[in-house]
Amino acid sequence: MVHVATILAILLLTVVSDASISTARLRTGQSFLIREAENANALARTVAAGPQKMEFSGRNRGKWVDQNGRVVSSENFRLFQNGSVLLKHARPSDAGTYQKDPNPMIRIGDMGYAPPILIIQVQN
Ligand SMILES: *[C@@H]1O[C@H](CO)[C@@H](O)[C@H](O)[C@H]1NC(C)=O
Repeated sequence: MVHVATILAILLLTVVSDASISTARLRTGQSFLIREAENANALARTVAAGPQKMEFSGRNRGKWVDQNGRVVSSENFRLFQNGSVLLKHARPSDAGTYQKDPNPMIRIGDMGYAPPILIIQVQN
């Protein structure tokens, strides 16, 4: 019984660690549906311009806001009801890491694992 539990735990951890980082390699102009923040409150990204956050409710709903609270150009993105966000035309300035916000560590028993993160790469 102990062995079955151990094997199940290892299988589960393998799935979790595989799921933690995914990479989307896009060409300039390609569209991509970011699903990392489905059912979350916000999507956060870190791009060359710095960290930005897109809230799914409130005054700046569906817009990227930088660390100083300034709204940055967001026409290239469309927020859906369920929290998925469409990147309409990938640009090099959209390359970076995307994750739901907040994005706490995944805890299984006493262990903590890296939460899911999407890396978007954009080639010319
Ligand atoms: C969320 O909405 C988008 C756009 O309509 C859709 O493509 C996606 O499958 C939806 N996700 C879920 C989990 O239903």
